[in-house]
Formats: sequence, C-alpha cells, structure tokens
Amino acid sequence: MRRLEGKVALVVGSGSVGPGWGNGRAISVLFAREGAKVFGADRNLEAAADTQRLIAEEGGTSAIGEVDVTDPRSIEAMVEACIKTYGRIDVLVNNVGGSAPGDVVSMPLEVWDRQFDTNIRYVFLTCKHVIPIMVQQGGGAIVNLASIAALAHFGPDVVAYSAAKAGLIHFTRVTAVRYARDNVRCNIVVPGLMDTPLVEMRLANERAGGDVEALRRRRNSQPPMGRMGTAWDVAHAALFLASNEARYITGAELVVDGGLAATVRLAGDAN
Ligand SMILES: NC(=O)c1ccc[n+]([C@@H]2O[C@H](COP(=O)([O-])OP(=O)(O)OC[C@H]3O[C@@H](n4cnc5c(N)ncnc54)[C@H](O)[C@@H]3O)[C@@H](O)[C@H]2O)c1
Repeated sequence: MRRLEGKVALVVGSGSVGPGWGNGRAISVLFAREGAKVFGADRNLEAAADTQRLIAEEGGTSAIGEVDVTDPRSIEAMVEACIKTYGRIDVLVNNVGGSAPGDVVSMPLEVWDRQFDTNIRYVFLTCKHVIPIMVQQGGGAIVNLASIAALAHFGPDVVAYSAAKAGLIHFTRVTAVRYARDNVRCNIVVPGLMDTPLVEMRLANERAGGDVEALRRRRNSQPPMGRMGTAWDVAHAALFLASNEARYITGAELVVDGGLAATVRLAGDAN
C-alpha cells in the first residue's frame, strides 16, 4: 500500500531554485511515488513543469499552476485551480521560502518585509483558504518548512529569515491546536544544512566568494553526522508527517539536520 494513495497534495513551491533536486521537487516526486495526485504550484512555471515531467516519467499523476505567493489573489486562484482539477485537498505543503543576508542594522526594511511575505505571510493565506476545505472533507494534513535558523544563530546573519521561520513554527503549533478536533493536522519540518541547488545558485556567492566546493566542504564538516543532508531527507520527513502513519502527530517539529541543532556551537562557525 502506497502511503498517500488516493490523496491530493497541493505543493506550494514545487519547482526548484536551480537544476537538480530542491526540497519542493523531491517532496512532489516522492508524494507522487507514494500515490498522491500532486498539484504543484510555483512562480517559475518552467521549474514546476520539470517536476511534473519527472513525475510523469515514473507514471505518477500531477498538474501544475502558476502562483506568486506574495499576491493574495494569486494564492486564492491557486487553491481554486487545485479544487477544479482534483476536487479536494488532503495535504498542503508550504515549501516556498529562502533567506536574505543581513542583520538588524544592515537589512533594509523592504528586504525584511519581503522575507516575511515569502516565508510566513503566504502560509497564513494558504492555510486560510485550504483549512475550510479540509474541515469540510473531514480532515487533512499541513506540512510547513522551517529551518534550523529558527532555533539558533548558526553563523550567517539572516535576521528576517530566522524570525519569520521561528514565527512559522509557532504559527504551526497554534493552528494545530485550533484545528485538532477537525482532524486537520499541522506539522513542520526543520531542515539544517542541505545540499540542494540553493548552495550553487546563491549561497556560494553570498558566503564563499563564489567558491561552491569550499562552501560544500565547510557545510559537510559542520553537522555531527559529517555531511549535509539532501532534499530527499527533507522529503521523507514531509512524507511521514503527511501520511496516516503520523495520524496522532500534530503541532510537532521534525528536525532534519544530522544532529546540528543538538550541538553547542561557537558563534560564527556554521553557514
Ligand atoms: N535548501 C536548504 O538548504 C534549506 C535549508 C533549510 C530550510 N530550507 C527551506 O526549505 C524550503 C525549500 O527550499 P529550497 O532551497 O530547497 O527551495 P526549492 O528548490 O524547493 O525551491 C523553492 C521554489 O519556490 C519558488 N518560489 C520562490 N518564490 C516564490 C513566490 N513568490 N511565489 C511562488 N513560488 C516561489 C521557486 O521558484 C522555487 O521553485 C524553504 O522553505 C527553505 O527555507 C531549505
């Protein structure tokens, strides 16, 4: 029995920040493998189409739609499109997110606002529209994506990202409590240092003068397990939380970081 057989999953941010396996793509492909019909939404329709192609190659079922999560009307239209296509929503994954560098003094207000728009405000909006559908259906599962930056300062200054993701963890808890009796479960995956296209596309420039391999070496050396994780590690955690195996789990954080957040760290040595 596949673990999401017969379920419809709306994955917000189903593309990838670059070629290869980002978290949203791995989650979408794994969910389809496990029997879900996946509605993948992304601002980058081409990246979402690449994910859809990968699902089709494995014989899975998916549809895609364009969404800009900074636009409330676009979010509403995305939920309507998913319902029009598949008639229900059993699983909602809020995967869009990313960090901008800066501390409280150096970060411009516009960057702070944008970080909150793309890391937490949109989750408020997707939940606002999807939860009533889940309640009417008799239940559902919401999986949000945080980061260990929400738990502690791990090296780089990403003040808005850290604060928004910390807010997202608590948003997930209080929403879980509010809708527990409706059988709508809300949980959050908290990834650490992952080897995703993000490292090459953006972080190497921001944190290692463009030297991708140097940044990879540094990131591999930091977790107690001696290596970065992959998007599949995040996807398997999301799958568990979305599946019936987690039917008594709500309001929980699942940290996927090779033990990094469990260590006591010296300031400035992680990335
Ligand atoms: N990659 C990591 O190392 C890492 C570490 C910790 C946490 N995370 C979290 O995991 C999640 C996924 O990160 P990722 O780096 O794997 O990204 P990803 O490769 O899954 O790509 C995210 C997708 O979001 C889309 N997107 C961006 N802005 C959008 C917008 N305004 N509207 C609609 N779509 C938009 C992009 O086009 C992209 O396809 C994020 O929430 C991130 O904060 C990632």
